[in-house]
Amino acid sequence: MDLIEAATAARMNAHAPYSGFRVGAAVRGASGAVHAGCNVENVAYPEGICAEAGAIAAMVLAGERRLVEVAVIADAPAPVPPCGGCRQKLAEFGGPEVRVVMLTTGGARAECTLGDLLPLAFGAAHMGGR
Ligand code: THU
Repeated sequence: MDLIEAATAARMNAHAPYSGFRVGAAVRGASGAVHAGCNVENVAYPEGICAEAGAIAAMVLAGERRLVEVAVIADAPAPVPPCGGCRQKLAEFGGPEVRVVMLTTGGARAECTLGDLLPLAFGAAHMGGR
């Protein structure tokens, strides 16, 4: 399945009554399979989750532990990058070479790598083998 189509379709199911900002995301696992997610907000605001987190959860549920690409789409003036927390969540399952495609519903597009967004990422190696 196409990564961008999956993110676009997922966005339609977003639960974002508080921000009104619906986001769709899709990750491509190393197998080539695509896993999608949308943001799910909560009346207790900090309990909301980002679209990227949902897509990662779907990937893990499907039995995949490695992602190579992520797409994010929102109705925004400019392509929306994953938030700081989601950058770390993406780094858990992919290296700095992960391709990040950011899109708006209006057709704008930007692209970079996870390494661009999260330089000097904290990783398991920093824990010295614990
Ligand atoms: N949001 C995402 O789902 N992904 C992003 O990359 C940026 C922000 C969501 C969280 C919240 O539901 C809404 O957008 C406004 O911050």
